[in-house]
Amino acid sequence: MTEQLGPTEWGTSVGVGPWDGPWPAGEHWDPELLEHGDRRNVVDHYRYWRRDAIVADLDMRRHEFHVAIENFQHDHNIGTVVRTANAFAAAAVHIVGRRRWNRRGAMVTDRYQHVHHQPTPADLRAFATERGLAVVAVDNSPGAQPVERTALPRRCVLLFGQEGPGLSDASRAEADLVVSIAQFGSTRSVNAGVAAGIVMHGWIREHADPDAAW
Ligand SMILES: C[S@@+](CC[C@H](N)C(=O)[O-])C[C@H]1O[C@@H](n2cnc3c(N)ncnc32)[C@H](O)[C@@H]1O
Repeated sequence: MTEQLGPTEWGTSVGVGPWDGPWPAGEHWDPELLEHGDRRNVVDHYRYWRRDAIVADLDMRRHEFHVAIENFQHDHNIGTVVRTANAFAAAAVHIVGRRRWNRRGAMVTDRYQHVHHQPTPADLRAFATERGLAVVAVDNSPGAQPVERTALPRRCVLLFGQEGPGLSDASRAEADLVVSIAQFGSTRSVNAGVAAGIVMHGWIREHADPDAAW
């Protein structure tokens, strides 16, 4: 029996070849991809679609949570955070601090994700206040509430710190809520990209509609 492939391209070969048969009609199809094949890391629903058409379609599916990560020391986890934010259809990702970030781990998912730069924690706070978003800081600092026992606001920004220093005092002070992830081993913390995945998925479990997933 042939194994059924999942909704992404992770099969024996990546992507699909040239379109077989008469080309479909519609503005969202990309003639280049129809002609040469589509090897991008996109779910099957978007095969052969133009990139701007994919972004426009995602814009109608995005969730109400935003993700922010501090970047005062060029954190190498940002790419992973962007990729996970894309997978869970976050409204946007905010890079707080330095504008430049290491795109490697994003695996080009940033092309389909709105990514904003916020120079300081105060700028992120102002953005959130203007849009009625709660700022939920995620850090293993004293006084944080266990995320396992805390309801995450539907409209929020999930804010993460960097490897090493963790979340800045300024970000913690600007937050409406600080939550921590329960740990049981010897290490002080998990990787920031992993922490972001755990908490984003917490939001998904609480607020997203699993029937709307691919
Ligand atoms: C590697 S941690 C920083 C750890 C910190 N310097 C320490 O040793 O206590 C980087 C970021 O990952 C996230 N993080 C890692 N482990 C966490 C946990 N158990 N609870 C909440 N956030 C965590 C937070 O956003 C944190 O700022």
